[in-house]
Amino acid sequence: MSADEITVSVIKADVGGWVGHSSIHPDLIDAAEEHLDSAKTNERIEDYHVTHCGDDLNLIITHRQGNDSDICHGLAWRVFEACTEVAKGLKLYGAGQDLLSDAFSGNVRGMGPGVAEMTFTERPAEPIVVFMADKTSAGAWNLPLYRMFADPFNTAGLVISPGLHQGFQFQVLDVHKNRQITFKCPEELYDLLVFIGAPAKYTVQHVLNAEGEIAAASSTERLSLVAGQYVGKDDPVCVIRCQSQFPAVGEILEPFSHPIIVEGWMRGSHHGPLMPVSMKHSQCTRFDGPPRVVALGFQLADGKLIGPRDMFDDPAFDDARREASELATHLRRHGPFEPHRLPMDEMEYTTLPQVAERLEGRWEDMGEPAHGDGKKEVKAGAVDD
Ligand code: F6R
Ligand code: MG
Ligand code: MG
Repeated sequence: MSADEITVSVIKADVGGWVGHSSIHPDLIDAAEEHLDSAKTNERIEDYHVTHCGDDLNLIITHRQGNDSDICHGLAWRVFEACTEVAKGLKLYGAGQDLLSDAFSGNVRGMGPGVAEMTFTERPAEPIVVFMADKTSAGAWNLPLYRMFADPFNTAGLVISPGLHQGFQFQVLDVHKNRQITFKCPEELYDLLVFIGAPAKYTVQHVLNAEGEIAAASSTERLSLVAGQYVGKDDPVCVIRCQSQFPAVGEILEPFSHPIIVEGWMRGSHHGPLMPVSMKHSQCTRFDGPPRVVALGFQLADGKLIGPRDMFDDPAFDDARREASELATHLRRHGPFEPHRLPMDEMEYTTLPQVAERLEGRWEDMGEPAHGDGKKEVKAGAVDD
Protein backbone atom coordinates (compact mmCIF):
# COMPACT_ATOMS: atom_id res chain seq x y z
CA MET A 1 0.00 0.00 0.00
CA SER A 2 1.14 3.58 -0.58
CA ALA A 3 2.16 5.91 2.26
CA ASP A 4 -0.96 8.04 2.04
CA GLU A 5 -3.32 5.07 2.30
CA ILE A 6 -5.18 4.25 5.49
CA THR A 7 -6.70 0.92 6.56
CA VAL A 8 -9.84 0.72 8.66
CA SER A 9 -10.13 -2.67 10.39
CA VAL A 10 -13.21 -3.62 12.37
CA ILE A 11 -12.49 -6.84 14.24
CA LYS A 12 -14.94 -8.42 16.67
CA ALA A 13 -15.34 -11.42 18.91
CA ASP A 14 -17.57 -12.65 21.71
CA VAL A 15 -15.11 -13.39 24.51
CA GLY A 16 -17.66 -13.54 27.33
CA GLY A 17 -21.16 -12.24 28.04
CA TRP A 18 -22.54 -10.21 30.94
CA VAL A 19 -25.21 -11.35 31.87
CA GLY A 20 -25.63 -14.55 29.83
CA HIS A 21 -25.35 -13.53 26.15
CA SER A 22 -26.95 -10.09 26.63
CA SER A 23 -24.08 -7.62 26.84
CA ILE A 24 -20.43 -7.25 27.87
CA HIS A 25 -18.78 -6.17 31.13
CA PRO A 26 -17.07 -2.72 31.14
CA ASP A 27 -13.82 -4.34 32.38
CA LEU A 28 -13.46 -5.94 28.92
CA ILE A 29 -13.66 -2.52 27.26
CA ASP A 30 -11.06 -1.18 29.74
CA ALA A 31 -8.68 -4.10 29.09
CA ALA A 32 -9.00 -3.69 25.31
CA GLU A 33 -8.41 0.07 25.52
CA GLU A 34 -5.31 -0.43 27.64
CA HIS A 35 -3.76 -2.72 25.01
CA LEU A 36 -4.71 -0.58 22.04
CA ASP A 37 -3.54 2.58 23.79
CA SER A 38 -0.01 1.22 24.12
CA ALA A 39 -0.07 0.13 20.43
CA LYS A 40 -1.07 3.68 19.50
CA THR A 41 1.67 5.17 21.70
CA ASN A 42 4.19 2.86 19.99
CA GLU A 43 2.85 4.09 16.62
CA ARG A 44 1.91 0.60 15.46
CA ILE A 45 -1.63 1.85 14.84
CA GLU A 46 -3.00 5.33 14.08
CA ASP A 47 -6.09 5.21 16.26
CA TYR A 48 -8.75 2.95 17.76
CA HIS A 49 -12.23 2.91 19.26
CA VAL A 50 -13.43 0.05 21.46
CA THR A 51 -17.15 -0.63 21.67
CA HIS A 52 -19.68 -3.45 21.77
CA CYS A 53 -22.92 -4.63 20.28
CA GLY A 54 -24.73 -6.96 22.66
CA ASP A 55 -22.20 -9.55 23.87
CA ASP A 56 -19.64 -8.82 21.13
CA LEU A 57 -16.49 -6.80 21.70
CA ASN A 58 -15.76 -4.61 18.67
CA LEU A 59 -12.35 -3.10 17.92
CA ILE A 60 -12.32 -0.29 15.34
CA ILE A 61 -8.66 0.26 14.39
CA THR A 62 -6.98 2.57 11.86
CA HIS A 63 -3.44 1.79 10.70
CA ARG A 64 -1.04 1.91 7.71
CA GLN A 65 -0.36 -1.82 7.24
CA GLY A 66 -3.10 -2.70 4.74
CA ASN A 67 -5.71 -5.47 4.81
CA ASP A 68 -4.90 -8.80 6.49
CA SER A 69 -1.85 -7.36 8.25
CA ASP A 70 -0.40 -9.72 10.83
CA ILE A 71 0.49 -6.68 12.97
CA CYS A 72 -3.12 -5.49 13.24
CA HIS A 73 -4.66 -8.98 13.35
CA GLY A 74 -2.05 -10.11 15.88
CA LEU A 75 -2.81 -7.11 18.05
CA ALA A 76 -6.56 -7.83 17.90
CA TRP A 77 -5.94 -11.49 18.77
CA ARG A 78 -3.85 -10.53 21.81
CA VAL A 79 -6.57 -8.07 22.90
CA PHE A 80 -9.18 -10.85 22.69
CA GLU A 81 -6.90 -13.21 24.62
CA ALA A 82 -6.33 -10.61 27.35
CA CYS A 83 -10.07 -9.88 27.51
CA THR A 84 -10.77 -13.63 27.74
CA GLU A 85 -8.59 -13.75 30.86
CA VAL A 86 -10.58 -10.85 32.35
CA ALA A 87 -13.82 -12.64 31.39
CA LYS A 88 -12.62 -15.87 33.02
CA GLY A 89 -11.73 -13.96 36.21
CA LEU A 90 -15.27 -12.58 36.38
CA LYS A 91 -16.71 -15.97 35.33
CA LEU A 92 -18.54 -14.23 32.48
CA TYR A 93 -20.68 -16.42 30.26
CA GLY A 94 -18.92 -18.26 27.44
CA ALA A 95 -15.49 -16.74 28.19
CA GLY A 96 -13.33 -16.98 25.07
CA GLN A 97 -16.12 -18.61 23.03
CA ASP A 98 -15.14 -17.09 19.67
CA LEU A 99 -11.40 -17.83 19.91
CA LEU A 100 -11.56 -21.19 18.19
CA SER A 101 -7.85 -22.00 18.19
CA ASP A 102 -4.95 -21.67 20.63
CA ALA A 103 -2.45 -21.14 17.84
CA PHE A 104 -2.64 -17.73 16.17
CA SER A 105 -1.25 -17.92 12.65
CA GLY A 106 -0.95 -14.26 11.64
CA ASN A 107 -4.56 -13.64 10.54
CA VAL A 108 -7.77 -13.84 12.57
CA ARG A 109 -9.83 -14.93 9.54
CA GLY A 110 -11.13 -18.44 10.04
CA MET A 111 -10.07 -18.38 13.71
CA GLY A 112 -13.47 -17.26 15.08
CA PRO A 113 -13.44 -13.44 15.17
CA GLY A 114 -15.23 -11.46 12.42
CA VAL A 115 -13.37 -8.91 10.28
CA ALA A 116 -14.46 -6.09 7.97
CA GLU A 117 -11.60 -4.03 6.59
CA MET A 118 -10.77 -1.67 3.76
CA THR A 119 -7.75 0.30 2.56
CA PHE A 120 -8.04 3.58 0.66
CA THR A 121 -6.61 7.05 0.22
CA GLU A 122 -8.30 9.35 2.70
CA ARG A 123 -10.32 12.06 0.96
CA PRO A 124 -10.22 15.74 2.09
CA ALA A 125 -13.24 14.81 4.23
CA GLU A 126 -13.84 11.11 4.90
CA PRO A 127 -17.08 10.21 6.71
CA ILE A 128 -17.44 6.52 7.59
CA VAL A 129 -20.20 4.56 9.33
CA VAL A 130 -19.49 1.30 11.16
CA PHE A 131 -22.48 -1.02 11.58
CA MET A 132 -22.33 -3.76 14.21
CA ALA A 133 -25.04 -6.37 14.83
CA ASP A 134 -25.69 -8.99 17.50
CA LYS A 135 -27.73 -12.22 17.38
CA THR A 136 -27.66 -12.53 13.63
CA SER A 137 -25.54 -13.91 10.80
CA ALA A 138 -23.17 -12.66 8.12
CA GLY A 139 -25.84 -12.27 5.42
CA ALA A 140 -27.78 -9.70 7.46
CA TRP A 141 -26.12 -6.86 5.49
CA ASN A 142 -27.23 -8.17 2.06
CA LEU A 143 -30.54 -6.35 1.93
CA PRO A 144 -29.34 -3.06 3.51
CA LEU A 145 -26.28 -2.97 1.19
CA TYR A 146 -28.50 -3.62 -1.81
CA ARG A 147 -30.76 -0.76 -0.78
CA MET A 148 -27.84 1.64 -0.15
CA PHE A 149 -25.93 0.96 -3.35
CA ALA A 150 -28.50 -0.29 -5.89
CA ASP A 151 -32.00 0.88 -4.98
CA PRO A 152 -32.97 4.37 -6.22
CA PHE A 153 -36.03 4.34 -3.96
CA ASN A 154 -33.57 4.34 -1.04
CA THR A 155 -30.63 6.23 -2.52
CA ALA A 156 -31.77 9.26 -4.48
CA GLY A 157 -28.15 9.92 -5.49
CA LEU A 158 -28.19 6.92 -7.85
CA VAL A 159 -30.57 8.96 -9.99
CA ILE A 160 -29.63 12.60 -9.34
CA SER A 161 -25.97 12.69 -8.25
CA PRO A 162 -23.30 12.56 -10.99
CA GLY A 163 -20.93 10.86 -8.49
CA LEU A 164 -23.24 7.87 -8.00
CA HIS A 165 -25.07 7.64 -11.33
CA GLN A 166 -22.59 5.09 -12.80
CA GLY A 167 -23.69 2.55 -10.18
CA PHE A 168 -21.75 0.14 -7.97
CA GLN A 169 -20.18 -3.31 -8.10
CA PHE A 170 -21.08 -6.01 -5.58
CA GLN A 171 -18.52 -8.69 -4.65
CA VAL A 172 -20.48 -11.70 -3.44
CA LEU A 173 -19.13 -14.70 -1.52
CA ASP A 174 -20.54 -18.20 -1.95
CA VAL A 175 -20.03 -19.17 1.69
CA HIS A 176 -20.32 -22.93 1.21
CA LYS A 177 -17.97 -23.17 -1.79
CA ASN A 178 -15.68 -20.30 -0.67
CA ARG A 179 -15.64 -18.63 -4.10
CA GLN A 180 -16.57 -15.11 -5.15
CA ILE A 181 -18.22 -13.32 -8.05
CA THR A 182 -18.66 -9.62 -8.94
CA PHE A 183 -21.91 -8.11 -10.24
CA LYS A 184 -22.02 -4.70 -11.93
CA CYS A 185 -25.15 -2.74 -11.06
CA PRO A 186 -27.54 -1.58 -12.36
CA GLU A 187 -26.74 -3.76 -15.41
CA GLU A 188 -26.69 -7.06 -13.48
CA LEU A 189 -29.15 -6.16 -10.76
CA TYR A 190 -31.50 -9.07 -11.35
CA ASP A 191 -28.60 -11.56 -11.45
CA LEU A 192 -27.30 -10.11 -8.17
CA LEU A 193 -30.68 -10.56 -6.48
CA VAL A 194 -30.89 -14.22 -7.53
CA PHE A 195 -27.98 -14.86 -5.15
CA ILE A 196 -28.01 -12.28 -2.36
CA GLY A 197 -31.72 -12.93 -1.78
CA ALA A 198 -30.43 -16.14 -0.12
CA PRO A 199 -28.30 -14.54 2.63
CA ALA A 200 -27.54 -17.84 4.40
CA LYS A 201 -25.66 -19.00 1.28
CA TYR A 202 -24.38 -15.83 -0.39
CA THR A 203 -23.06 -12.74 1.39
CA VAL A 204 -22.00 -9.36 0.04
CA GLN A 205 -18.30 -9.03 0.91
CA HIS A 206 -17.42 -5.69 -0.66
CA VAL A 207 -19.07 -2.93 -2.63
CA LEU A 208 -16.95 -0.86 -5.04
CA ASN A 209 -17.95 2.09 -7.16
CA ALA A 210 -17.80 1.97 -10.98
CA GLU A 211 -14.13 3.09 -10.91
CA GLY A 212 -13.28 0.26 -8.52
CA GLU A 213 -12.90 2.39 -5.41
CA ILE A 214 -13.86 0.59 -2.20
CA ALA A 215 -17.16 1.76 -0.71
CA ALA A 216 -18.16 -0.96 1.77
CA ALA A 217 -16.65 -4.02 3.45
CA SER A 218 -18.49 -6.55 5.57
CA SER A 219 -17.47 -9.50 7.70
CA THR A 220 -18.49 -12.70 5.94
CA GLU A 221 -17.32 -15.38 8.36
CA ARG A 222 -19.93 -17.97 9.25
CA LEU A 223 -18.86 -19.25 12.64
CA SER A 224 -20.80 -22.47 12.29
CA LEU A 225 -18.90 -23.32 9.10
CA VAL A 226 -15.58 -22.43 10.71
CA ALA A 227 -16.21 -24.46 13.84
CA GLY A 228 -18.23 -27.38 12.43
CA GLN A 229 -20.63 -27.13 15.34
CA TYR A 230 -22.91 -24.49 16.82
CA VAL A 231 -20.76 -21.87 18.56
CA GLY A 232 -23.01 -18.84 18.29
CA LYS A 233 -24.07 -16.58 15.48
CA ASP A 234 -21.67 -14.52 13.42
CA ASP A 235 -22.90 -11.16 14.71
CA PRO A 236 -21.47 -9.35 11.70
CA VAL A 237 -19.86 -5.93 11.23
CA CYS A 238 -19.70 -3.65 8.20
CA VAL A 239 -17.81 -0.43 7.42
CA ILE A 240 -19.02 2.05 4.81
CA ARG A 241 -17.59 5.22 3.27
CA CYS A 242 -20.14 7.99 2.75
CA GLN A 243 -20.86 11.19 0.82
CA SER A 244 -19.69 12.68 -2.48
CA GLN A 245 -19.03 9.68 -4.82
CA PHE A 246 -20.70 7.36 -2.26
CA PRO A 247 -24.23 7.46 -0.83
CA ALA A 248 -24.86 10.20 1.76
CA VAL A 249 -24.86 9.30 5.46
CA GLY A 250 -28.66 9.57 5.42
CA GLU A 251 -28.88 7.17 2.46
CA ILE A 252 -26.61 4.71 4.31
CA LEU A 253 -28.87 4.81 7.39
CA GLU A 254 -32.20 4.79 5.52
CA PRO A 255 -32.45 0.98 4.95
CA PHE A 256 -32.77 0.58 8.72
CA SER A 257 -35.90 2.77 8.88
CA HIS A 258 -37.88 -0.49 8.49
CA PRO A 259 -36.71 -3.60 10.36
CA ILE A 260 -35.83 -6.53 8.12
CA ILE A 261 -36.22 -10.15 9.17
CA VAL A 262 -32.89 -11.90 9.75
CA GLU A 263 -31.79 -15.28 11.05
CA GLY A 264 -30.25 -15.59 14.50
CA TRP A 265 -31.94 -14.58 17.75
CA MET A 266 -32.40 -17.30 20.41
CA ARG A 267 -29.82 -20.10 19.97
CA GLY A 268 -29.09 -18.74 16.50
CA SER A 269 -32.09 -20.76 15.34
CA HIS A 270 -34.86 -18.25 14.76
CA HIS A 271 -35.95 -15.55 12.37
CA GLY A 272 -36.47 -12.16 13.97
CA PRO A 273 -36.53 -8.43 13.20
CA LEU A 274 -33.25 -6.49 13.13
CA MET A 275 -33.83 -3.56 15.50
CA PRO A 276 -31.72 -0.39 15.02
CA VAL A 277 -30.72 0.91 18.48
CA SER A 278 -28.51 3.48 20.19
CA MET A 279 -25.48 2.33 22.20
CA LYS A 280 -27.59 2.71 25.35
CA HIS A 281 -29.81 -0.09 24.07
CA SER A 282 -27.02 -2.18 22.58
CA GLN A 283 -28.00 -5.27 24.54
CA CYS A 284 -30.08 -8.34 23.76
CA THR A 285 -32.79 -9.11 26.30
CA ARG A 286 -36.16 -10.36 25.03
CA PHE A 287 -35.76 -14.04 24.02
CA ASP A 288 -32.04 -13.13 23.80
CA GLY A 289 -32.84 -10.39 21.31
CA PRO A 290 -34.42 -9.24 19.20
CA PRO A 291 -31.36 -9.02 16.92
CA ARG A 292 -29.86 -5.51 17.19
CA VAL A 293 -27.81 -3.21 15.03
CA VAL A 294 -25.87 -0.13 16.14
CA ALA A 295 -24.23 2.45 13.84
CA LEU A 296 -21.24 4.59 14.84
CA GLY A 297 -20.19 7.45 12.57
CA PHE A 298 -16.68 8.96 12.38
CA GLN A 299 -14.85 11.54 10.32
CA LEU A 300 -11.31 10.41 9.56
CA ALA A 301 -8.60 13.05 10.04
CA ASP A 302 -5.18 11.76 8.91
CA GLY A 303 -6.12 8.33 10.17
CA LYS A 304 -7.56 9.58 13.47
CA LEU A 305 -11.13 8.58 14.31
CA ILE A 306 -13.07 11.77 15.03
CA GLY A 307 -16.13 10.44 16.82
CA PRO A 308 -18.10 8.38 17.41
CA ARG A 309 -21.55 9.73 16.64
CA ASP A 310 -24.24 7.31 17.81
CA MET A 311 -26.29 7.42 14.60
CA PHE A 312 -29.40 5.50 15.71
CA ASP A 313 -29.72 7.59 18.89
CA ASP A 314 -32.48 9.53 17.19
CA PRO A 315 -36.30 9.59 17.43
CA ALA A 316 -36.33 9.30 13.62
CA PHE A 317 -35.74 5.55 14.22
CA ASP A 318 -38.42 5.18 16.93
CA ASP A 319 -40.95 3.91 14.38
CA ALA A 320 -38.48 1.23 13.20
CA ARG A 321 -37.98 0.13 16.81
CA ARG A 322 -41.73 -0.01 17.43
CA GLU A 323 -42.25 -1.96 14.21
CA ALA A 324 -39.45 -4.35 15.23
CA SER A 325 -41.12 -4.95 18.61
CA GLU A 326 -44.45 -5.69 16.92
CA LEU A 327 -42.78 -8.11 14.48
CA ALA A 328 -40.96 -9.75 17.40
CA THR A 329 -44.25 -10.33 19.19
CA HIS A 330 -45.88 -11.70 16.04
CA LEU A 331 -43.04 -14.13 15.33
CA ARG A 332 -42.74 -15.21 18.97
CA ARG A 333 -46.36 -16.43 18.87
CA HIS A 334 -45.20 -19.15 16.45
CA GLY A 335 -43.03 -20.66 19.21
CA PRO A 336 -41.16 -23.70 17.81
CA PHE A 337 -42.87 -23.48 14.40
CA GLU A 338 -41.44 -22.16 11.15
CA PRO A 339 -41.11 -19.45 9.95
CA HIS A 340 -40.03 -18.28 13.45
CA ARG A 341 -37.80 -21.32 13.83
CA LEU A 342 -35.28 -21.69 10.99
CA PRO A 343 -35.88 -24.36 8.31
CA MET A 344 -34.56 -27.85 9.12
CA ASP A 345 -31.48 -27.64 6.88
CA GLU A 346 -30.33 -24.50 8.73
CA MET A 347 -30.57 -26.33 12.07
CA GLU A 348 -27.85 -28.90 11.49
CA TYR A 349 -25.88 -27.87 14.58
CA THR A 350 -28.81 -28.25 16.99
CA THR A 351 -30.43 -31.35 18.54
CA LEU A 352 -32.74 -31.78 15.53
CA PRO A 353 -30.46 -34.17 13.56
CA GLN A 354 -29.96 -36.27 16.73
CA VAL A 355 -33.72 -36.56 17.29
CA ALA A 356 -34.26 -37.41 13.61
CA GLU A 357 -31.55 -40.09 13.77
CA ARG A 358 -32.93 -41.60 16.99
CA LEU A 359 -36.42 -41.85 15.46
CA GLU A 360 -35.31 -43.05 12.02
CA GLY A 361 -36.32 -46.67 12.69
CA ARG A 362 -39.78 -45.68 13.96
CA TRP A 363 -41.03 -44.42 10.60
CA GLU A 364 -43.36 -46.94 8.91
CA ASP A 365 -43.13 -47.12 5.12
CA MET A 366 -46.49 -46.21 3.56
CA GLY A 367 -45.59 -47.47 0.05
CA GLU A 368 -45.83 -45.41 -3.12
CA PRO A 369 -47.82 -42.15 -2.82
CA ALA A 370 -51.32 -42.48 -4.36
CA HIS A 371 -50.37 -40.40 -7.43
CA GLY A 372 -47.14 -42.05 -8.56
CA ASP A 373 -44.27 -40.00 -7.17
CA GLY A 374 -46.70 -37.56 -5.58
CA LYS A 375 -46.00 -34.86 -8.12
CA LYS A 376 -48.72 -33.79 -10.49
CA GLU A 377 -47.49 -33.58 -14.06
CA VAL A 378 -47.89 -30.01 -15.34
CA LYS A 379 -47.91 -29.58 -19.12
CA ALA A 380 -46.71 -26.32 -20.61
CA GLY A 381 -49.63 -23.98 -21.08
CA ALA A 382 -51.95 -26.15 -18.96
CA VAL A 383 -54.50 -24.22 -16.88
CA ASP A 384 -55.82 -25.60 -13.58
CA ASP A 385 -59.59 -25.90 -13.41
C1 F6R B 1 -27.48 -16.66 20.27
C2 F6R B 1 -26.98 -16.77 21.64
C3 F6R B 1 -27.94 -17.15 22.72
C4 F6R B 1 -27.65 -18.57 23.23
C5 F6R B 1 -28.68 -19.00 24.29
C6 F6R B 1 -28.38 -20.39 24.86
O1 F6R B 1 -26.47 -16.28 19.40
O2 F6R B 1 -25.84 -16.56 21.91
O3 F6R B 1 -29.27 -17.00 22.31
O4 F6R B 1 -27.66 -19.46 22.15
O5 F6R B 1 -28.69 -18.09 25.36
O6 F6R B 1 -27.07 -20.38 25.32
P1 F6R B 1 -26.41 -21.61 26.09
O7 F6R B 1 -26.64 -22.82 25.23
O8 F6R B 1 -24.99 -21.23 26.23
O9 F6R B 1 -27.14 -21.72 27.41
MG1 MG C 1 -22.31 -14.85 23.64
MG1 MG D 1 -23.10 -12.03 20.07
